[in-house]
Amino acid sequence: MSGKVIKVGLMGLGTVGTGVYKVMENQRSEFPHKIGAEMEITKILVRENAMEDAKARVRSDIQVVGSYEDIVNDPEIDIVVEVMGGIDFAKKCILACLNAGKSVVTANKDLVAVHGRELLDAAAANGCDFLFEASVAGAIPIIRPLKQCLAANNISEVMGIVNGTTNYILTKMTLEGMTFEEALAKATELGYAEADPTADIEGLDAARKVAIMGSIAFNSRVVLDDVYVEGITKLTAEDISYATEMGYTIKLLGVARHAEGDGIEVRVHPMLIPSSHPLATVNDSFNAVFVHGDAVDDVMFYGRGAGELPTASAVVGDVMDIARNMMYNCKGRIHCSCYKDIPIKAIDDCRSSYFIRMQAMNRPGVLAAISGVFGENNVSIAQFIQKNAVDEEAEMVLITENVLEKDFRKAVDALREMPILKEISAIIRVYSA
Ligand code: NAP
Ligand code: HSE
Repeated sequence: MSGKVIKVGLMGLGTVGTGVYKVMENQRSEFPHKIGAEMEITKILVRENAMEDAKARVRSDIQVVGSYEDIVNDPEIDIVVEVMGGIDFAKKCILACLNAGKSVVTANKDLVAVHGRELLDAAAANGCDFLFEASVAGAIPIIRPLKQCLAANNISEVMGIVNGTTNYILTKMTLEGMTFEEALAKATELGYAEADPTADIEGLDAARKVAIMGSIAFNSRVVLDDVYVEGITKLTAEDISYATEMGYTIKLLGVARHAEGDGIEVRVHPMLIPSSHPLATVNDSFNAVFVHGDAVDDVMFYGRGAGELPTASAVVGDVMDIARNMMYNCKGRIHCSCYKDIPIKAIDDCRSSYFIRMQAMNRPGVLAAISGVFGENNVSIAQFIQKNAVDEEAEMVLITENVLEKDFRKAVDALREMPILKEISAIIRVYSA
């Protein structure tokens, strides 16, 4: 054994920070065998008003500090873990650590999805590691596989369920008939949801993860603003029930695609997927990511996408990776992998199949008029059901073939002008292979 002790500074002692502390404690006696050195947390940054509580929760020889500079300026600390979340303060802390020659691990997708390049550049300039495995799909290894194990591929698609909160909500609504509000409250209680769950339910959290995965998969920077986003707040029990009846399950999916010679397609939205598809059985807070590469073909990663210990598993795995690098004096081995500059494809130019639920007059000729509008706009219909006719009104549900988004939108705009149509109640994309 080297006799070396690697010292770690922890910034944030919330859900993930507490998990990191516990996992580091559990693994303490294993570190000398796994990395060739001892490793321990020596300082933890919390807010001034949380210091007493934090001291009571951690080993007495750990220093609980109220200023980030106590960690940045500590020459004994080699690795810093940032798990406070947020953008400005976290970015300031991470840059200060990197500029002080410390390697950094973060779970902060908000930050990486917007400022990833700047942080990776700072790490490279200082010869440090900047790792962020936990920022995408919690416990699931996906960043490291994309950057290392699958590096020999041209990746054409990365697609999956990357938000635990929304997957938990949709699972409970579909399988247990819970209301959206009940399921969200439970997801928050279990520590899956962000401090402000708007980012989860409006699809932004998933969008950040898809931006990060897209950047790495296609070697070209994708940022949050590039991602087309729709959340799950408009989904109703009726949509879930129709989907089930038609053999589908509704999931919030993140999709990043790139075909040779084309732009990068990157989007997050609810999608009907066939109930026989492997992603349809990914339930509760579990996440799953499919990757297609020209050499590897299909690979799927599955596991817990959120929560205290699962997320800490990924964070501490990164810390151990850095520690191993340090033991061989080879910090900063894997840099920013975005060496291309591929344009982002507009959503209008993407193709999809669509589920559309609408309320229309129940009269002869209505169906012909509706299908006529679709036909005039190059949208062909694959499935149709009509029910719930009450008085003069009926609910109609259609699924289209795989069509261009701009054609589908033109058809919907034309439908909205028709007096026979009372309301378009839902539009949801449908998976087509
Ligand atoms: P959290 O429970 O809110 O914990 C964050 C902690 O950091 C809180 O105790 C917070 O204190 C503290 N903090 C915030 N700003 C601080 C500052 N300026 N100085 C000192 N302490 C500060 O959040 P979390 O769920 O652990 O998430 C942490 C990070 O991990 C986020 O970037 C999140 O996106 C990411 N992540 C979370 C999960 C998950 O399952 N929870 C999974 C993957 C990634 P206050 O409460 O007083 O603000
Ligand atoms: N709020 C996130 C989720 C945590 O529900 O997946 C993991 O990033």
